[in-house]
Amino acid sequence: MTNDTTNDRTNSDGLDDTGRELRDALTRLPRTLPPRWLYDDRGSELFSAITGVPEYYQTEAERSILADHSAMIAELTEARTVIELGSGTSDKTRTLLDAFVAHGVIARFVPLDVSAATLHEAAEMLIERHPEIQVEPVVGDFTRHLQRLSDVPSPGERLVLFLGGTIGNFYVEERRAFLGALADVLAPGDWVLIGLDQVKPIDRLIAAYDDDQGLTEMFIRNALEHVNREYDGDLDVGNFAYVPFWDGRQHRIDMRLRASEPMSARLEGLDLDLELAAGEEIRVEISSKFSPSQIVEELAHVGFGADAQVFTDAADEFAVVLARRI
Ligand code: SAH
Ligand code: TRP
Repeated sequence: MTNDTTNDRTNSDGLDDTGRELRDALTRLPRTLPPRWLYDDRGSELFSAITGVPEYYQTEAERSILADHSAMIAELTEARTVIELGSGTSDKTRTLLDAFVAHGVIARFVPLDVSAATLHEAAEMLIERHPEIQVEPVVGDFTRHLQRLSDVPSPGERLVLFLGGTIGNFYVEERRAFLGALADVLAPGDWVLIGLDQVKPIDRLIAAYDDDQGLTEMFIRNALEHVNREYDGDLDVGNFAYVPFWDGRQHRIDMRLRASEPMSARLEGLDLDLELAAGEEIRVEISSKFSPSQIVEELAHVGFGADAQVFTDAADEFAVVLARRI
């Protein structure tokens, strides 16, 4: 279970799966960037800072939902193993784990994240707080390594947490694949708890992804800088403009970097030359907004009970869905 991503296959071109995925994403049109590139150490720090800016309402909304319902969730699920995908700092998860420990059934917490430094820091914090449970951090990619969860011998029921609205960062097909893979590794009786951001007035949505301090812009730019660092690249990050906008048809914030002038770049480590025309864009990240019933339906479609419970914050901006594998 403690394997990391280094055992990915190395292909005939000398790249591992991650490198190949990146090269494809940057080459295929429209150009995109897999979300994991946002989260090196610097990106994880920037994300933590974003969760504290006044415009970014999601973290506090989700925290209040968890505070209100943690005891009930522990009682209802009776989970012995709690797994958290894309756990980051596991900051909000503390509340939930406190309730599980008080309830007395939980034996183990398994946080999984691509960002190793953040993951291990969080694990240390939790080990200190809850010496009575086993904390087993896993460095891994939740789009590829879910199968590892079925390797964990886990008597009793499991609860998988997927918080922070991360479900919104998948494109539709990726979301379907992810939920299907999750259903596949879970046994009947296991649970998922998924946090999602709700559709709301555009101004409020845009402000959350274009904060006054410019932290979100730095976070998005850092993804390209991360690529440069990792693959010995010379993409001129300063020559892109940050372009966040609301896509009303797809119900998502779309965050792009747009080349201000024609650009050539080389990524030595990917053996890749890139030519971008002025105005050409790299789609760095999307953040989809939902109605809770949409996620309940998508979960039911892959094998979770259609009677999922939905919890919301006082302002009804965020939602947390609890569903059971059938
Ligand atoms: N759950 C936390 C963090 C959300 S940010 C919260 O609610 O605040 C998204 C997290 O997912 C980051 O910690 C990032 O490192 C991680 N992440 C992004 N893509 C990932 C992937 N493909 N596999 C595993 N973790 C990923
Ligand atoms: N899951 C978070 C969200 O969609 C991730 C996030 C927060 C994010 N701020 C961001 C992603 C800014 C890209 C840019 O809200």
